[in-house]
Amino acid sequence: MKNNDKETCPNSPHETKLSFFNAIKTKFKKSPKPKKTSSPVPNKKEVGNNEHKKLFINLPNFSFNKKNKNLNNSASAKNYKSDDLPKISLENEVQTADKSITSLPLEEEKNNNDLENAIPKQATSSSTAFYAIGQYKESYVEDSPKFRVVVAIDFGTAFSGYAFSFLNDATKHIHMMGKWENGDPGVINQKTPSTLLLKPDGTFHSFGFTARNCYQDLSPEEAMEWMLFDNFKMSLYKSNNCNLEKTIEAVNGKRFSAFKVITETLKFFRNHAVQEISLQTGYSLSNDDILWVLTVPAIWSSPAKQFMRLAAYEAGLASSTNPNKLVVALEPEAAAIHICRLRQHQLVSDKPVLFDYLQFKASKEPQSQTKLIDEFEKQCRYIILDCGGGTVDITVHEMNSETGLIHELRAASGGPYGATNIDLEFRLLLEDIFGSDFVESFHTKCPNGWLSLMMFFESRKRAADPMKPSTFNIALPFSFLEHFRKMKGHTVEQVISRYGNPEIQWTFQGMLRLSLGTMTKLFQPCTDKIGDCIRDIVKSVKGIRYIFMVGGLSESPVLQHEIRQLSKYVCGSSVKVIIPQEASLAVVKGAVSFGLNPEILTARKIASTYGAAVLNLFDAKKHLQNKQLEKDGKLWCKDIFDVFIKADELINCGHVVERTYVVADAESKKMYVNIYSSPNKQPLYVTDADVSKCANICLDLSKAENNLKRLIRVRMEFAATEIKVSAVDSSSGRQVEASIDFINV
Ligand SMILES: Nc1ncnc2c1ncn2[C@@H]1O[C@H](COP(=O)(O)OP(=O)(O)OP(=O)(O)O)[C@@H](O)[C@H]1O
Ligand SMILES: [Mg+2]
Repeated sequence: MKNNDKETCPNSPHETKLSFFNAIKTKFKKSPKPKKTSSPVPNKKEVGNNEHKKLFINLPNFSFNKKNKNLNNSASAKNYKSDDLPKISLENEVQTADKSITSLPLEEEKNNNDLENAIPKQATSSSTAFYAIGQYKESYVEDSPKFRVVVAIDFGTAFSGYAFSFLNDATKHIHMMGKWENGDPGVINQKTPSTLLLKPDGTFHSFGFTARNCYQDLSPEEAMEWMLFDNFKMSLYKSNNCNLEKTIEAVNGKRFSAFKVITETLKFFRNHAVQEISLQTGYSLSNDDILWVLTVPAIWSSPAKQFMRLAAYEAGLASSTNPNKLVVALEPEAAAIHICRLRQHQLVSDKPVLFDYLQFKASKEPQSQTKLIDEFEKQCRYIILDCGGGTVDITVHEMNSETGLIHELRAASGGPYGATNIDLEFRLLLEDIFGSDFVESFHTKCPNGWLSLMMFFESRKRAADPMKPSTFNIALPFSFLEHFRKMKGHTVEQVISRYGNPEIQWTFQGMLRLSLGTMTKLFQPCTDKIGDCIRDIVKSVKGIRYIFMVGGLSESPVLQHEIRQLSKYVCGSSVKVIIPQEASLAVVKGAVSFGLNPEILTARKIASTYGAAVLNLFDAKKHLQNKQLEKDGKLWCKDIFDVFIKADELINCGHVVERTYVVADAESKKMYVNIYSSPNKQPLYVTDADVSKCANICLDLSKAENNLKRLIRVRMEFAATEIKVSAVDSSSGRQVEASIDFINV
């Protein structure tokens, strides 16, 4: 990590401009068009076609090959003769299977005994329906075209934004898209609300502050027709409900395709970024010049990540034939990358700062220029607490402060405890005072009035500070007062007075006044859950030195106070709380740094065990009787879970798991491998209760040579931000189109 003042000092406008223009002064040359790898796309017609009903037989051997880049070298694999291998036909086992494919061990492990003790893989059935809506292909192109600018999009539950950096800028300064039109008075944002407005016919109208303001200006009748979506990122939170047909609800209750909503959002950011950067640089930026980085919560499932990638392709960020133009970054990792580069004066002080001048003076002192990483011991452990609008992501890293390399110590945890829960608590309070029937009716019948109310609440919520006693006035919109009077026959004032809580009052100016106690109580469900998670982690991971707080909610003095108290009284004084200024931008800025150097994270813990089903020689001492199967005079045990990667195991980035398959039918156009996952570290059978089929790998053999029993070597990478697969026809050395599908399983 290099010293870099421009990059890490708070942006004086002058400095920002300087580094920005230094970057753009260097003349851009248009990069040559990237070579397109053709990828025939399977279509729906192919589903159920017998051509694709394949049977797999697999041998047990696999290995982790660190940075194994020699997949194309097929010389040693060619030494195998597939005729030497045991072949097992499983037509009786899997009714739909009609062809067989055999796998063989890697060459370094092959010997005659291996073949004798072969563990063939169970057949996959033809019901493996892969069809390519969105054309998801993970055939990673080795030499991706050169890009000139890295643009990271942080698509958040509540707020979204993007940042960018130029490759030819030696300072690697990170520029924020900071001018969002129609921002809220009283709320400073370098991000815009994740709010999308679609016209009644489902076409795009606007995004962010503009969308919200336009919706508020609609007549009540129009507001029932137009569709405004907010908090829709949360719809991807539950993995079991993540398919392209999924619909989500607009604020007026109308349902619309989630895929289209997310695609339109990403398209908006794509167009905005391209336009903005082109305008600033005077260079007409093409997609080839950009490496896109998209941030996702670390606790998101593979189907949710795939959903985002498909939407990104649809929006024009990368494509199925050029997937490397899009990098997925995990939000807490990006945040950690950003924080470690900060200097002391860029952190929120734990002492009250009385005058801006004193803070300014302190920032000039030499000790405040020390980078945080310089304070770390050689191996430093820390928690990244990313408290956003929807989710709270908690990850534990260990960093080697000499090399700057970080690895994950504990798989990401957390839950839906973000700041929108405070809004929900506020709604519950309104229901308590005014009745849930009224609140529901106001929400659906006056959606724009509801938005105004929540906007007022937002600015008051941000002002809450346990160290500064005050009260919080929330303006209730005229539509609220009127709707209540018509529906309930009373005035709002009468009801508040009847509610009888001295902490909640009606003011002469016509506002709902909450005491500090009432306001901080709204934070409590969130702060309690976050506190519980941290206690758990500190108990189970020893030697934690820091808690890094990032995300918008981490800017709240209420949460900051709670976490500082927790670290003092529960974790012990050895745990220090670190909060960067502009905590809500840590993710997007770190994502740009990640895009510039994706190798920065060296290892990850995988949350689930992954593997495939195999047949094994039957052993009465080990195997269940009902799993026995007789074939070619031998007894086999079916459904055995062949573990590729164990849950909670630390896997180096770049490590791959390999399997080699023999295609038994020369006419085969496609092969499928079913992938199973389990939270259990050592599941025995793929039929166990805690095991589920999570993906299938599709190998497109249409371009492979048509010789009988060719060998296909499949390479799977689990430690990247997304699970990646690639494959090679070992007989010819040619790349085979390989895709992994988590959605249509
Ligand atoms: N000072 C503050 N006090 C309380 N909440 C705040 C404050 N500042 C921002 N927030 C809340 O933080 C949320 C936005 O944070 P952020 O931008 O990190 O979330 P996000 O990225 O949209 O969410 P996620 O990461 O869950 O997808 C909003 O819900 C906002 O209400
Ligand atoms: Mg976020």
